Amino acid sequence: MKRIVILISGRGSNMEAIVEACRRDGWPAEVVAVVSNRPEAAGLAYAAEQGIATAVVDHRAFPSRDAFDDALAQQIDAFSPDLLVMAGFMRILGAAFVARYEGRMLNIHPSLLPAFPGLNTHRRAIDAGCTEAGATVHFVTAELDHGPIVAQVAVPILPGDDERTLAARVLAQEHRLYPDAVRRVVELGAAAAGD
Ligand code: GRF
Repeated sequence: MKRIVILISGRGSNMEAIVEACRRDGWPAEVVAVVSNRPEAAGLAYAAEQGIATAVVDHRAFPSRDAFDDALAQQIDAFSPDLLVMAGFMRILGAAFVARYEGRMLNIHPSLLPAFPGLNTHRRAIDAGCTEAGATVHFVTAELDHGPIVAQVAVPILPGDDERTLAARVLAQEHRLYPDAVRRVVELGAAAAGD
């Protein structure tokens, strides 16, 4: 069984979709912990209700980015993950952290990368006059939102869309895309390890 640790900062709806799919579809994997950098992250309550271990590493308690990254890595490693899944985790991680988990850390970004890395993707896509938006699951590398792409989904931008309506349409697709992508990565890993 592959061990998955999910990192969140807030609502955690992608985390929820992954936990549900993992259990429902009998993946050769288990979500062993959900870790947040924010104690108030709503997703922590869902994880706890599901009997999943939770932990908080509050970035505000650390004097530097490196000190936070070190504490976060220590907490994550206590759960011995095979795969680290960032799901709405809103901190930029340093090069040493990324190197430690490179090749086993995924992220979902709400745009059709390489278009619109960074924040406010939906507003930027609307302002640019795009007719399509979407979401991308990618491996995390040192350059923000630039790692190798695992899966993408395109979503139409409709006349009259604003940030909120577009975000909701994209999020509904994220909830299908991310579990599928995580499952594929887990199964490839399991096959490679002869599990
Ligand atoms: C999602 O749109 C994700 O793509 C982005 O942040 C949002 C997180 O939502 N990185 P949730 O916490 O999974 O509900």
